[in-house]
Amino acid sequence: MYQISRMQKPSCLKLGLYIRQDHGELRYLVEASGAFANTSSSKSANSLQPHTEASNYPDPPKYVALWCDRQANCGGGQTTLADGRQLFQMLDASDRITVTDQDIHFGDPSRTIHSVGKVVTLQSGEPTLIRFSYNLLRHGLYDPVVSNDEVDCAPGSRLAKVAESLLHLFTLQNLAIDIRQDGLLVWENFRMLHSRRRYRDQRRRLIRYWLTARDIDSVF
Ligand SMILES: [Fe+2]
Repeated sequence: MYQISRMQKPSCLKLGLYIRQDHGELRYLVEASGAFANTSSSKSANSLQPHTEASNYPDPPKYVALWCDRQANCGGGQTTLADGRQLFQMLDASDRITVTDQDIHFGDPSRTIHSVGKVVTLQSGEPTLIRFSYNLLRHGLYDPVVSNDEVDCAPGSRLAKVAESLLHLFTLQNLAIDIRQDGLLVWENFRMLHSRRRYRDQRRRLIRYWLTARDIDSVF
């Protein structure tokens, strides 16, 4: 995970190959829109639940970069991150079996790209790719309506239990980061779970990039 200053911008923008996002563009504006005000969406000002980026893609981006174009002045909107590999080790045995063995349909009607995969892909016993969306596992939708009577898609199911377990562990372990004006936050999406705190300043705007697996360690 890196947060770097304005002066380092040029090298960061070369750190990998960009992936087109759901709307076909290389850049995605993370800003509140009235059309999404009642949803758990990046296009709202609401808090977000823990997830990894692009879990519905056959090959999710290895890295996510958020560039702060207009910082919120309300004290909210922090990006929160936790190490998914640590959370995996903290799961109980039954949850660990579920996340490594059960095929999940990562997709909903709002997404044109769907894929099937495990929450945790292991290689030689080590997690190498984590795909997660609390909303999808709990409610069957990536961006459900935020209300007090949200419907569980499978109450009591193994997936619902895993979603609640990971949410609980994320709440205990997450680090909240204020991305500074013109700052860039980069993290490894194969490994980290992220979410966001709610905010009120509707001017807040971040620019999101998805990047392929080129090794960025040599850049820094
Ligand atoms: Fe996200």
